[in-house]
Amino acid sequence: MTDTGGQLRDEFPILAHTTYLVSHSLGAMPRAAEGKLKEYTDMWARRGVRAWAEGWWRLPLTVGDQIGRIIGAQPGTVVMHQNVSVCEALILSCFDFKGPRNKIVYEDLNFPSVMYVYEAHKDLGARIQMVASEDGITIPLDKMLAAIDEETLLVPISHVIFKSGAIQDVAAIVKRAHEVGALVVADLYQSVGTVPVDVTAWDVDFATGGSVKWLCGGPGAAYLYVAPRLRQQLHPRLTGWMAHAQPFSFETGPIRYADDASRFLHGTPSVPALYAAQAGYDLVEKLGVEAVRAQSRRQVGRLVERARAQDFTPRTPEKPEDRGGMVIVDVPRAEAVTRELLRREILVDYRPGAGIRISPHFYTRDEEVDRAIEEIRTILDTGAEKAHMTAGGTGF
Ligand SMILES: Cc1ncc(COP(=O)(O)O)c(C=O)c1O
Repeated sequence: MTDTGGQLRDEFPILAHTTYLVSHSLGAMPRAAEGKLKEYTDMWARRGVRAWAEGWWRLPLTVGDQIGRIIGAQPGTVVMHQNVSVCEALILSCFDFKGPRNKIVYEDLNFPSVMYVYEAHKDLGARIQMVASEDGITIPLDKMLAAIDEETLLVPISHVIFKSGAIQDVAAIVKRAHEVGALVVADLYQSVGTVPVDVTAWDVDFATGGSVKWLCGGPGAAYLYVAPRLRQQLHPRLTGWMAHAQPFSFETGPIRYADDASRFLHGTPSVPALYAAQAGYDLVEKLGVEAVRAQSRRQVGRLVERARAQDFTPRTPEKPEDRGGMVIVDVPRAEAVTRELLRREILVDYRPGAGIRISPHFYTRDEEVDRAIEEIRTILDTGAEKAHMTAGGTGF
Protein backbone atom coordinates (compact mmCIF):
# COMPACT_ATOMS: atom_id res chain seq x y z
CA MET A 1 0.00 0.00 0.00
CA THR A 2 1.22 3.51 -0.73
CA ASP A 3 1.06 6.32 1.79
CA THR A 4 -1.96 7.93 0.21
CA GLY A 5 -3.94 4.70 -0.18
CA GLY A 6 -5.96 4.29 -3.35
CA GLN A 7 -5.04 0.74 -4.36
CA LEU A 8 -6.37 -0.91 -7.53
CA ARG A 9 -8.31 2.21 -8.52
CA ASP A 10 -8.33 1.31 -12.21
CA GLU A 11 -10.29 -1.81 -11.35
CA PHE A 12 -13.31 0.28 -10.22
CA PRO A 13 -14.96 2.38 -12.96
CA ILE A 14 -17.06 4.51 -10.58
CA LEU A 15 -13.93 6.00 -8.97
CA ALA A 16 -13.25 7.95 -12.17
CA HIS A 17 -16.17 10.30 -11.50
CA THR A 18 -17.15 10.03 -7.83
CA THR A 19 -15.63 10.25 -4.38
CA TYR A 20 -16.74 6.82 -3.24
CA LEU A 21 -17.03 6.70 0.55
CA VAL A 22 -19.99 4.38 0.95
CA SER A 23 -18.52 0.85 0.97
CA HIS A 24 -20.29 0.13 4.29
CA SER A 25 -23.45 0.14 2.13
CA LEU A 26 -22.45 -0.91 -1.40
CA GLY A 27 -18.82 -1.52 -2.27
CA ALA A 28 -17.77 -0.19 -5.69
CA MET A 29 -18.22 -2.62 -8.60
CA PRO A 30 -14.96 -4.19 -9.77
CA ARG A 31 -14.55 -4.00 -13.54
CA ALA A 32 -13.95 -7.77 -13.52
CA ALA A 33 -17.54 -8.41 -12.35
CA GLU A 34 -18.67 -7.81 -15.92
CA GLY A 35 -16.28 -10.51 -17.17
CA LYS A 36 -17.55 -12.93 -14.53
CA LEU A 37 -21.15 -12.32 -15.62
CA LYS A 38 -20.07 -12.87 -19.22
CA GLU A 39 -18.51 -16.20 -18.16
CA TYR A 40 -21.90 -17.09 -16.67
CA THR A 41 -23.90 -16.20 -19.79
CA ASP A 42 -21.34 -17.91 -22.07
CA MET A 43 -21.64 -21.05 -19.97
CA TRP A 44 -25.42 -20.90 -20.12
CA ALA A 45 -25.37 -20.25 -23.87
CA ARG A 46 -22.74 -22.83 -24.84
CA ARG A 47 -23.17 -25.58 -22.29
CA GLY A 48 -26.89 -25.28 -21.51
CA VAL A 49 -28.13 -27.82 -18.99
CA ARG A 50 -24.65 -29.39 -18.76
CA ALA A 51 -23.56 -26.26 -16.86
CA TRP A 52 -25.04 -27.73 -13.67
CA ALA A 53 -22.66 -30.67 -13.68
CA GLU A 54 -19.79 -28.50 -14.92
CA GLY A 55 -19.80 -26.16 -11.92
CA TRP A 56 -23.15 -24.49 -11.25
CA TRP A 57 -24.49 -27.12 -8.84
CA ARG A 58 -21.40 -27.00 -6.62
CA LEU A 59 -21.06 -23.21 -6.85
CA PRO A 60 -22.53 -22.49 -3.37
CA LEU A 61 -19.73 -24.69 -1.97
CA THR A 62 -16.85 -23.66 -4.25
CA VAL A 63 -17.59 -19.96 -3.80
CA GLY A 64 -18.10 -20.69 -0.09
CA ASP A 65 -14.54 -22.03 0.02
CA GLN A 66 -13.23 -18.72 -1.31
CA ILE A 67 -15.08 -16.88 1.47
CA GLY A 68 -13.75 -19.53 3.85
CA ARG A 69 -10.19 -18.48 3.00
CA ILE A 70 -11.05 -14.86 3.85
CA ILE A 71 -12.78 -15.65 7.17
CA GLY A 72 -10.41 -18.36 8.44
CA ALA A 73 -12.81 -21.28 7.89
CA GLN A 74 -11.74 -24.78 6.92
CA PRO A 75 -12.55 -25.85 3.34
CA GLY A 76 -16.03 -27.33 3.05
CA THR A 77 -17.58 -25.39 5.95
CA VAL A 78 -19.12 -22.37 4.18
CA VAL A 79 -22.16 -22.36 1.87
CA MET A 80 -23.63 -19.50 -0.11
CA HIS A 81 -27.18 -18.16 0.14
CA GLN A 82 -29.04 -15.08 -1.01
CA ASN A 83 -28.87 -12.87 2.08
CA VAL A 84 -28.16 -12.78 5.81
CA SER A 85 -31.83 -12.90 6.78
CA VAL A 86 -32.16 -16.29 5.06
CA CYS A 87 -28.96 -17.56 6.74
CA GLU A 88 -30.19 -16.51 10.20
CA ALA A 89 -33.59 -18.11 9.53
CA LEU A 90 -31.87 -21.31 8.40
CA ILE A 91 -29.86 -21.45 11.64
CA LEU A 92 -32.99 -20.84 13.72
CA SER A 93 -34.79 -23.60 11.85
CA CYS A 94 -32.38 -26.10 13.47
CA PHE A 95 -33.77 -25.41 16.97
CA ASP A 96 -36.97 -25.41 18.97
CA PHE A 97 -37.90 -23.32 21.97
CA LYS A 98 -39.97 -25.80 23.97
CA GLY A 99 -37.46 -26.47 26.76
CA PRO A 100 -35.98 -24.09 29.36
CA ARG A 101 -33.11 -23.22 27.02
CA ASN A 102 -35.10 -20.87 24.81
CA LYS A 103 -33.49 -17.48 25.36
CA ILE A 104 -31.97 -15.41 22.56
CA VAL A 105 -29.53 -12.65 23.58
CA TYR A 106 -28.49 -9.84 21.25
CA GLU A 107 -27.54 -6.18 21.26
CA ASP A 108 -30.01 -3.37 20.59
CA LEU A 109 -27.65 -2.07 17.87
CA ASN A 110 -28.00 -5.33 15.95
CA PHE A 111 -29.05 -4.98 12.32
CA PRO A 112 -32.88 -4.73 12.34
CA SER A 113 -33.44 -7.40 9.69
CA VAL A 114 -31.65 -9.89 11.96
CA MET A 115 -33.86 -8.84 14.89
CA TYR A 116 -37.00 -9.32 12.76
CA VAL A 117 -36.08 -12.96 12.09
CA TYR A 118 -35.54 -13.76 15.80
CA GLU A 119 -38.51 -11.71 17.04
CA ALA A 120 -40.76 -13.63 14.63
CA HIS A 121 -39.95 -16.81 16.61
CA LYS A 122 -41.44 -15.51 19.87
CA ASP A 123 -44.74 -17.22 19.10
CA LEU A 124 -42.84 -20.54 18.98
CA GLY A 125 -41.55 -19.92 22.51
CA ALA A 126 -38.33 -17.93 21.93
CA ARG A 127 -37.60 -15.36 24.64
CA ILE A 128 -35.57 -12.36 23.53
CA GLN A 129 -33.23 -10.40 25.79
CA MET A 130 -31.81 -7.24 24.22
CA VAL A 131 -28.64 -5.79 25.68
CA ALA A 132 -28.82 -1.99 25.58
CA SER A 133 -26.15 0.38 24.39
CA GLU A 134 -25.49 3.27 26.76
CA ASP A 135 -23.92 5.60 24.20
CA GLY A 136 -25.54 4.54 20.90
CA ILE A 137 -22.07 3.50 19.69
CA THR A 138 -20.90 0.48 21.68
CA ILE A 139 -22.46 -2.36 23.70
CA PRO A 140 -21.02 -2.83 27.20
CA LEU A 141 -19.24 -6.19 27.03
CA ASP A 142 -19.85 -6.95 30.73
CA LYS A 143 -23.61 -6.54 30.24
CA MET A 144 -23.54 -8.75 27.16
CA LEU A 145 -21.61 -11.47 29.01
CA ALA A 146 -23.89 -11.24 32.05
CA ALA A 147 -27.01 -11.65 29.89
CA ILE A 148 -25.78 -15.02 28.55
CA ASP A 149 -26.85 -17.73 30.99
CA GLU A 150 -27.81 -21.43 31.21
CA GLU A 151 -31.17 -20.67 29.57
CA THR A 152 -29.54 -19.04 26.54
CA LEU A 153 -29.83 -20.93 23.28
CA LEU A 154 -28.40 -18.49 20.74
CA VAL A 155 -26.46 -15.23 20.79
CA PRO A 156 -26.80 -13.58 17.35
CA ILE A 157 -24.49 -10.56 17.40
CA SER A 158 -22.80 -8.23 14.92
CA HIS A 159 -19.01 -8.27 14.83
CA VAL A 160 -19.02 -4.63 13.68
CA ILE A 161 -22.07 -2.52 14.49
CA PHE A 162 -23.76 -1.03 11.43
CA LYS A 163 -24.74 2.23 13.14
CA SER A 164 -21.34 3.12 14.59
CA GLY A 165 -18.63 0.88 13.15
CA ALA A 166 -17.77 -0.33 16.67
CA ILE A 167 -16.03 -3.72 16.84
CA GLN A 168 -17.40 -6.24 19.33
CA ASP A 169 -15.24 -8.83 21.09
CA VAL A 170 -16.64 -11.97 19.44
CA ALA A 171 -14.04 -14.28 21.06
CA ALA A 172 -15.04 -13.15 24.58
CA ILE A 173 -18.74 -13.59 23.80
CA VAL A 174 -18.12 -17.07 22.36
CA LYS A 175 -16.09 -18.04 25.45
CA ARG A 176 -18.89 -17.00 27.81
CA ALA A 177 -21.57 -18.63 25.64
CA HIS A 178 -19.71 -21.94 25.56
CA GLU A 179 -19.22 -21.90 29.34
CA VAL A 180 -23.01 -22.04 29.73
CA GLY A 181 -23.82 -24.19 26.69
CA ALA A 182 -25.10 -21.41 24.39
CA LEU A 183 -24.19 -20.95 20.71
CA VAL A 184 -23.06 -17.75 19.00
CA VAL A 185 -24.09 -16.53 15.54
CA ALA A 186 -21.67 -13.83 14.37
CA ASP A 187 -22.93 -11.42 11.69
CA LEU A 188 -19.73 -10.45 9.89
CA TYR A 189 -21.32 -8.23 7.24
CA GLN A 190 -19.67 -5.03 8.41
CA SER A 191 -16.25 -6.57 9.00
CA VAL A 192 -15.29 -9.14 6.36
CA GLY A 193 -13.15 -7.44 3.72
CA THR A 194 -12.00 -4.61 5.98
CA VAL A 195 -11.45 -6.07 9.48
CA PRO A 196 -9.64 -9.42 9.81
CA VAL A 197 -11.85 -12.28 10.92
CA ASP A 198 -10.94 -15.79 12.05
CA VAL A 199 -13.95 -17.96 12.75
CA THR A 200 -11.74 -20.95 13.63
CA ALA A 201 -9.64 -19.05 16.19
CA TRP A 202 -12.81 -17.59 17.73
CA ASP A 203 -14.35 -21.08 17.81
CA VAL A 204 -17.63 -19.39 16.87
CA ASP A 205 -20.56 -21.70 16.14
CA PHE A 206 -22.16 -19.93 13.19
CA ALA A 207 -21.16 -16.95 11.08
CA THR A 208 -22.91 -15.16 8.26
CA GLY A 209 -22.61 -12.02 6.18
CA GLY A 210 -23.08 -10.75 2.66
CA SER A 211 -20.94 -9.49 -0.19
CA VAL A 212 -22.52 -6.17 -0.97
CA LYS A 213 -20.27 -4.04 1.20
CA TRP A 214 -16.54 -4.43 1.91
CA LEU A 215 -16.22 -7.49 -0.33
CA CYS A 216 -17.36 -5.50 -3.40
CA GLY A 217 -19.29 -8.60 -4.49
CA GLY A 218 -22.75 -7.18 -5.25
CA PRO A 219 -26.13 -8.42 -4.03
CA GLY A 220 -27.38 -12.01 -3.79
CA ALA A 221 -24.25 -13.71 -2.38
CA ALA A 222 -24.39 -14.24 1.39
CA TYR A 223 -22.34 -16.85 3.26
CA LEU A 224 -23.17 -19.22 6.07
CA TYR A 225 -20.43 -20.85 8.14
CA VAL A 226 -21.32 -23.67 10.51
CA ALA A 227 -18.59 -25.04 12.80
CA PRO A 228 -17.91 -28.58 11.54
CA ARG A 229 -18.20 -29.99 15.11
CA LEU A 230 -21.94 -29.06 15.07
CA ARG A 231 -22.84 -30.28 11.61
CA GLN A 232 -24.15 -33.78 12.28
CA GLN A 233 -26.44 -32.71 15.12
CA LEU A 234 -28.22 -30.00 13.08
CA HIS A 235 -31.31 -30.73 10.96
CA PRO A 236 -32.54 -27.48 9.38
CA ARG A 237 -36.28 -27.23 8.74
CA LEU A 238 -35.54 -24.56 6.17
CA THR A 239 -34.26 -27.08 3.65
CA GLY A 240 -34.62 -28.44 0.14
CA TRP A 241 -33.23 -30.89 -2.34
CA MET A 242 -29.73 -29.40 -2.43
CA ALA A 243 -29.38 -30.41 1.23
CA HIS A 244 -30.21 -34.05 0.45
CA ALA A 245 -27.54 -36.77 0.61
CA GLN A 246 -28.54 -37.85 -2.93
CA PRO A 247 -30.61 -35.12 -4.52
CA PHE A 248 -30.72 -36.85 -7.90
CA SER A 249 -32.26 -39.99 -6.48
CA PHE A 250 -35.43 -37.85 -6.03
CA GLU A 251 -36.49 -39.82 -2.96
CA THR A 252 -40.01 -39.06 -1.79
CA GLY A 253 -40.94 -38.27 1.82
CA PRO A 254 -38.59 -36.83 4.45
CA ILE A 255 -35.15 -35.53 3.63
CA ARG A 256 -31.98 -37.53 4.27
CA TYR A 257 -29.48 -34.80 4.98
CA ALA A 258 -26.10 -34.66 3.26
CA ASP A 259 -23.13 -35.29 5.53
CA ASP A 260 -21.19 -32.33 4.19
CA ALA A 261 -21.96 -28.60 4.42
CA SER A 262 -24.53 -28.88 1.63
CA ARG A 263 -26.97 -29.98 4.38
CA PHE A 264 -27.26 -26.22 5.02
CA LEU A 265 -28.46 -25.46 1.48
CA HIS A 266 -32.06 -25.51 0.27
CA GLY A 267 -33.19 -25.01 -3.34
CA THR A 268 -31.62 -23.79 -6.58
CA PRO A 269 -28.84 -21.23 -5.94
CA SER A 270 -28.53 -17.67 -7.33
CA VAL A 271 -25.93 -18.64 -9.92
CA PRO A 272 -25.37 -15.20 -11.57
CA ALA A 273 -24.86 -13.53 -8.18
CA LEU A 274 -22.26 -16.14 -7.24
CA TYR A 275 -20.37 -15.50 -10.47
CA ALA A 276 -20.39 -11.71 -10.04
CA ALA A 277 -19.33 -11.84 -6.40
CA GLN A 278 -16.04 -13.61 -7.10
CA ALA A 279 -14.56 -10.51 -8.76
CA GLY A 280 -14.64 -8.63 -5.45
CA TYR A 281 -13.37 -11.61 -3.45
CA ASP A 282 -10.42 -11.99 -5.84
CA LEU A 283 -9.31 -8.41 -5.15
CA VAL A 284 -9.75 -8.72 -1.39
CA GLU A 285 -7.72 -11.94 -1.45
CA LYS A 286 -5.07 -10.34 -3.63
CA LEU A 287 -4.58 -7.42 -1.22
CA GLY A 288 -5.08 -9.43 1.97
CA VAL A 289 -7.41 -8.18 4.70
CA GLU A 290 -4.48 -7.35 7.03
CA ALA A 291 -3.16 -4.84 4.50
CA VAL A 292 -6.65 -3.45 3.86
CA ARG A 293 -7.10 -3.04 7.60
CA ALA A 294 -3.78 -1.19 8.00
CA GLN A 295 -4.79 1.43 5.44
CA SER A 296 -8.36 1.55 6.77
CA ARG A 297 -7.21 2.19 10.35
CA ARG A 298 -5.01 5.01 9.19
CA GLN A 299 -7.69 6.64 7.03
CA VAL A 300 -10.43 6.13 9.62
CA GLY A 301 -8.15 7.88 12.14
CA ARG A 302 -7.56 10.69 9.67
CA LEU A 303 -11.31 11.07 9.13
CA VAL A 304 -11.94 11.30 12.87
CA GLU A 305 -9.17 13.91 13.30
CA ARG A 306 -10.34 16.02 10.35
CA ALA A 307 -13.96 15.87 11.60
CA ARG A 308 -12.92 16.92 15.11
CA ALA A 309 -10.84 19.77 13.70
CA GLN A 310 -14.07 21.11 12.16
CA ASP A 311 -15.97 20.70 15.45
CA PHE A 312 -18.09 17.90 14.03
CA THR A 313 -18.91 14.96 16.28
CA PRO A 314 -17.59 11.59 15.10
CA ARG A 315 -19.78 8.93 16.72
CA THR A 316 -17.09 6.28 16.89
CA PRO A 317 -15.25 4.35 19.62
CA GLU A 318 -12.37 6.26 21.19
CA LYS A 319 -9.69 3.61 20.63
CA PRO A 320 -8.62 3.06 16.98
CA GLU A 321 -8.48 -0.72 17.50
CA ASP A 322 -12.19 -0.69 18.41
CA ARG A 323 -13.20 0.99 15.14
CA GLY A 324 -14.18 -0.87 11.97
CA GLY A 325 -14.07 0.65 8.50
CA MET A 326 -16.68 3.39 8.81
CA VAL A 327 -17.11 6.57 10.80
CA ILE A 328 -20.42 8.24 11.57
CA VAL A 329 -20.11 12.00 11.63
CA ASP A 330 -22.90 13.92 13.29
CA VAL A 331 -23.43 17.46 12.01
CA PRO A 332 -26.44 19.81 12.05
CA ARG A 333 -29.05 18.90 9.42
CA ALA A 334 -27.06 15.78 8.58
CA GLU A 335 -29.69 14.27 6.27
CA ALA A 336 -29.89 17.40 4.10
CA VAL A 337 -26.08 17.70 4.12
CA THR A 338 -25.91 14.10 2.88
CA ARG A 339 -28.20 14.94 -0.04
CA GLU A 340 -25.96 17.85 -1.02
CA LEU A 341 -22.86 15.64 -0.77
CA LEU A 342 -24.53 13.15 -3.11
CA ARG A 343 -25.33 15.98 -5.53
CA ARG A 344 -21.63 16.84 -5.47
CA GLU A 345 -20.74 13.22 -6.32
CA ILE A 346 -19.41 12.50 -2.84
CA LEU A 347 -21.15 9.22 -2.09
CA VAL A 348 -21.95 8.65 1.58
CA ASP A 349 -25.21 7.85 3.39
CA TYR A 350 -27.26 8.89 6.40
CA ARG A 351 -28.80 6.86 9.21
CA PRO A 352 -31.44 8.38 11.51
CA GLY A 353 -30.25 8.81 15.07
CA ALA A 354 -26.63 8.38 13.96
CA GLY A 355 -25.46 10.83 11.30
CA ILE A 356 -23.51 10.73 8.04
CA ARG A 357 -21.78 7.39 7.47
CA ILE A 358 -18.43 7.78 5.73
CA SER A 359 -16.09 4.93 4.77
CA PRO A 360 -12.71 4.76 3.15
CA HIS A 361 -11.87 1.43 1.53
CA PHE A 362 -8.69 0.13 -0.07
CA TYR A 363 -9.35 2.21 -3.20
CA THR A 364 -9.67 5.49 -1.25
CA ARG A 365 -7.03 8.21 -1.40
CA ASP A 366 -6.27 10.31 1.66
CA GLU A 367 -7.31 13.47 -0.18
CA GLU A 368 -10.79 12.01 -0.72
CA VAL A 369 -11.19 11.58 3.03
CA ASP A 370 -10.09 15.19 3.52
CA ARG A 371 -12.38 16.41 0.75
CA ALA A 372 -15.49 14.86 2.30
CA ILE A 373 -14.95 16.71 5.57
CA GLU A 374 -14.03 19.97 3.79
CA GLU A 375 -17.18 19.76 1.66
CA ILE A 376 -19.37 19.22 4.74
CA ARG A 377 -17.82 22.38 6.22
CA THR A 378 -18.40 24.34 2.98
CA ILE A 379 -21.99 23.11 2.69
CA LEU A 380 -22.81 24.16 6.26
CA ASP A 381 -21.01 27.52 5.91
CA THR A 382 -22.90 28.38 2.74
CA GLY A 383 -26.24 26.86 3.79
CA ALA A 384 -26.28 24.73 0.62
CA GLU A 385 -28.03 21.91 2.51
CA LYS A 386 -31.15 24.04 2.99
CA ALA A 387 -32.30 23.29 -0.57
CA HIS A 388 -32.72 19.64 0.48
CA MET A 389 -34.63 20.00 3.72
CA THR A 390 -37.79 18.41 2.28
CA ALA A 391 -36.39 16.07 -0.38
CA GLY A 392 -35.96 12.31 0.12
CA GLY A 393 -33.55 9.70 -1.05
CA THR A 394 -30.60 9.02 1.25
CA GLY A 395 -31.94 5.74 2.56
CA PHE A 396 -29.54 3.47 0.73
C1 LIG B 1 -24.68 -5.99 10.01
C2 LIG B 1 -25.63 -6.24 8.87
N1 LIG B 1 -26.30 -7.41 8.81
C3 LIG B 1 -27.15 -7.68 7.82
C4 LIG B 1 -27.39 -6.76 6.80
C5 LIG B 1 -28.32 -7.07 5.65
O1 LIG B 1 -29.00 -8.27 5.74
P1 LIG B 1 -29.58 -9.00 4.46
O2 LIG B 1 -28.42 -9.66 3.75
O3 LIG B 1 -30.57 -9.95 4.97
O4 LIG B 1 -30.19 -7.96 3.57
C6 LIG B 1 -26.71 -5.55 6.82
C7 LIG B 1 -26.95 -4.59 5.73
O5 LIG B 1 -26.87 -3.44 5.74
C8 LIG B 1 -25.82 -5.27 7.89
O6 LIG B 1 -25.16 -4.11 7.95
